[in-house]
Amino acid sequence: MGISVRGLVKSYSAVNVIHSISFDVADGEFVTLLGPSGCGKTTTLRCIAGLDTPNAGTIAINGRVVSDPARKLFVAPHERDLGMVFQSYAIWPHLTVAQNVAFPLTVRGERDTRDAVAWALDVVGLTKLSDRRPSELSGGQQQRVALARAIAARPQLLLFDEPLSNLDARLRDRTRLEISRIQKELKVPALYVTHDQTEALSMSDRVIVMEAGHVVQEGTPEDLYHRPVNRFVADFIGSANFLDVRRGPSGWQLPDGTPILVDPASDTGDDSGSVALLRPEAIRLEPGVHGDLTAAGFNRLTGRVVGSMYLGPHAEYIVEVGGLQLRAFSRAALPRGSHATLVFTALDCRLVASGTPHSRSLAHAG
Ligand SMILES: Nc1ncnc2c1ncn2[C@@H]1O[C@H](COP(=O)(O)OP(=O)(O)OP(=O)(O)O)[C@@H](O)[C@H]1O
Ligand SMILES: [Mg+2]
Repeated sequence: MGISVRGLVKSYSAVNVIHSISFDVADGEFVTLLGPSGCGKTTTLRCIAGLDTPNAGTIAINGRVVSDPARKLFVAPHERDLGMVFQSYAIWPHLTVAQNVAFPLTVRGERDTRDAVAWALDVVGLTKLSDRRPSELSGGQQQRVALARAIAARPQLLLFDEPLSNLDARLRDRTRLEISRIQKELKVPALYVTHDQTEALSMSDRVIVMEAGHVVQEGTPEDLYHRPVNRFVADFIGSANFLDVRRGPSGWQLPDGTPILVDPASDTGDDSGSVALLRPEAIRLEPGVHGDLTAAGFNRLTGRVVGSMYLGPHAEYIVEVGGLQLRAFSRAALPRGSHATLVFTALDCRLVASGTPHSRSLAHAG
């Protein structure tokens, strides 16, 4: 049950934009496709919705194959039993809120849409505005009309393409929670497209990271944040320090030879192009110099503060250490030019591959 995509290929006029990707969304699961602009998120979603025809691969929704070019099988979008919310909302300006929400039901030939519309408007909290037209609504309210329309027919699958990008930050936070709640209430699988890492981390049971038409990694938000497979994923999710490291005679070291302890579990023995990932929040930043010996699983590096940014609860500092500039947080006031010590455990410093096979081949092609 859920969605099953196998070997999906899509090209536009001989240019491949999706290179044989495979993934699943389990029943009731909320999965996010995350990746930079142009990586193929919308194309993937449109293939699942039946708005685009794939070149190869199979797509099954709740156990039923809806697309398989090899067998010339293609189920029309309106027969796939799914609700979709587009980035642009795509609601009709000449229809009222209630008429917009009823639209897909009317298209399906349902005569009495009142109960379904009332239910959907209640779920999104728009009952009182059912007679207004879109021009009389705020952006957030229009977004909720689109959401109500997507769920009115109680579809077996929900698809979202960056539905929150037109909302301001506060409304985005609130609507994010609302979408999660509605999806869990309906107990249907959902596939959600975004390039916003906060959205992906906070809403998803699982995240699929895409780069240039490939799936780079999939996992829970915690997996991706703490165990990214490469630098691309680490950089895309959360803020990151990357330490150029090399294996020295007595262990790993920074470019200037300073020894550094890394998580032994991340050391695969492959030294080609290694960088160490160190999240800023894993660093304890202290004013002054506290020695530079590594001991008992801790790294202790001293450096000089070269930049700072006040963020309210704490400040973010740039500290120059061994030829590298590292970001770290502190509640203490550290003047520019002063010495500071960074303390972090070996386990917080993980070796990651510096590139992917995809980005390397793209770099060669370019
Ligand atoms: N109809 C089309 N004709 C030709 N190329 C297309 C078409 N639609 C998309 N593309 C190309 O396919 C690639 C993937 O596009 P897609 O819209 O899936 O990206 P995306 O990941 O959704 O990006 P964004 O975050 O900017 O929305 C892009 O390089 C885009 O230029
Ligand atoms: Mg898109």
